[in-house]
Amino acid sequence: MVRYSNKKEVIHDLDVSGFFEGWPNHPDDETLKKILCNSQFIQMAIVDVKLVGFINAISDLILTAYIPLLEVLPEYQGQGIGQKLVTKMKEQLQNFYMIDICCDQDIISFYEKLSFNQGYSMSLRNYQNQAGFIK
Ligand SMILES: CC(C)(COP(=O)(O)OP(=O)(O)OC[C@H]1O[C@@H](n2cnc3c(N)ncnc32)[C@H](O)[C@@H]1OP(=O)(O)O)[C@@H](O)C(=O)NCCC(=O)NCCS
Repeated sequence: MVRYSNKKEVIHDLDVSGFFEGWPNHPDDETLKKILCNSQFIQMAIVDVKLVGFINAISDLILTAYIPLLEVLPEYQGQGIGQKLVTKMKEQLQNFYMIDICCDQDIISFYEKLSFNQGYSMSLRNYQNQAGFIK
């Protein structure tokens, strides 16, 4: 059964392998744990001790929150977990004015169903740092 948690204390005991499908040089498991610990807001979907999905947000804690990552393991997709993670994060961020996400074109309808509006964004990617620069 999938349970949901926003408690950072549980992260160290979790198996967080299997994420970042399609990223050629993705963060390793320890780096993903650091990303989750360093994020101001997280929501995790967990089965036993396996992380099967997560969403994180970073923020100025006054006006703005940005959601950099949302991932559900391929074998757990299509079961409503992604939608639940976003809904729980929206609840956590309900007092902020700006809640922003950058996404690929094919994910737009997923976020529109969750009341996000389509806009334009600009981005810069340093691909040599895709695995994270803190080791
Ligand atoms: C996008 C992602 C998080 C969705 O998670 P999920 O658990 O499979 O999604 P859900 O089961 O909650 O789907 C909820 C709804 O969104 C739809 N949906 C799911 N993935 C979608 C996608 N990639 N594009 C469009 N719609 C999608 C589902 O069909 C479902 O629609 P319904 O309510 O009409 O049945 C997951 O596919 C994923 O991890 N993808 C790889 C990483 C990624 O692209 N993350 C987004 C970064 S911005």
